[in-house]
Amino acid sequence: MQDQARESRQFLHRYTPPPIDGSFRGKHIVTVEQFSRSDLRTLFDVVFDFRSRVTNHDRSLLDICGSHVMASLFYEASTRTDMSFQAAMRRLGGRVVSASNGVQFSSVYKGEDLADSVRAAACYADVIVLRHPEVGSSYQAAYYLDQLQARVTRQPVVISGGDGVGEHPSQALLDLFTLVDLKGGAAGQTITMVGDLRNGRTVHSLAKLIGKLETRNTTLCFVSPAALPMPENIISYLKTHHINVHETGDLQEVLGQSDVIYWTRVQEERFENRAEYEAIRNDFIMTPEVMRDAKPDCILMHPLPRKNEMGTPEQRDALDLDPRAAYFRQMENGMFVRMALLASVLGAV
Ligand code: CP
Repeated sequence: MQDQARESRQFLHRYTPPPIDGSFRGKHIVTVEQFSRSDLRTLFDVVFDFRSRVTNHDRSLLDICGSHVMASLFYEASTRTDMSFQAAMRRLGGRVVSASNGVQFSSVYKGEDLADSVRAAACYADVIVLRHPEVGSSYQAAYYLDQLQARVTRQPVVISGGDGVGEHPSQALLDLFTLVDLKGGAAGQTITMVGDLRNGRTVHSLAKLIGKLETRNTTLCFVSPAALPMPENIISYLKTHHINVHETGDLQEVLGQSDVIYWTRVQEERFENRAEYEAIRNDFIMTPEVMRDAKPDCILMHPLPRKNEMGTPEQRDALDLDPRAAYFRQMENGMFVRMALLASVLGAV
């Protein structure tokens, strides 16, 4: 796995993701840095349209991707990303393929490398959704798909479903859409991200996407254990893009001023040292008592899945009833955003 990790990271430099620049068709989606403000407006217009049509059971949606096939290639566990992409494709009339019983029972079991598995999926599908534990793996997939174009008749694209501790671009899109949906956008808001900011790819992508918007009066507060800070490259990216950044280990410093609270799980699976995880897993626990000190009109987001960082099952049940809890709306928005993304890269809208 060390070799795969090294190889995947190299592609962060070998492959340059194309900016969307007004045209989604045929573009691999591997980082939020590909999107401009105008691209987001275009995409979110489609999301609002699809959401309304799904809600009204508009059967004409089934014609949009009726001739397309999506391959689901997940090397890491997922509930939301995998299921919402599959549901999105089916709601647009498309089909979904995957290795029977998961990627671990594909030729990966026999030692096939990532490049060949991606090439195989591309020979059968028009779009591949890839989740992989290594940073840069989606760049690697995009690089080999571009090379494959000279050898096959079609031009399949890859959408990252998360590459290790790197990025999760479609999650950031659905998070930002939820901010637009519930708070009118990110501009002027104080957005507080809490928890494992070192390993959380969702917070990496969302912070960078907000930076792309260059909303000068937006504040991002990062609250984490000292060992799990937001990576320095993202902090400097935000400062370059005129976002106010405040880092602290004390939630109370920022809780009462936060318009958006984005809570995250400590990513147990990313720790090599179990004792290090145990030492900090309970540092930040969201409970109904914590929410008492939050603004009455704030929203509480979480990419999910959740564990002890949202308290006991009883505390979670109580949190879920708080009208400020936005994570189920966020989860549902994921399907609409992924519908719009699939239709856009396939040139179907
Ligand atoms: N938010 C998210 O990526 O969830 P899954 O791991 O369940 O896909």
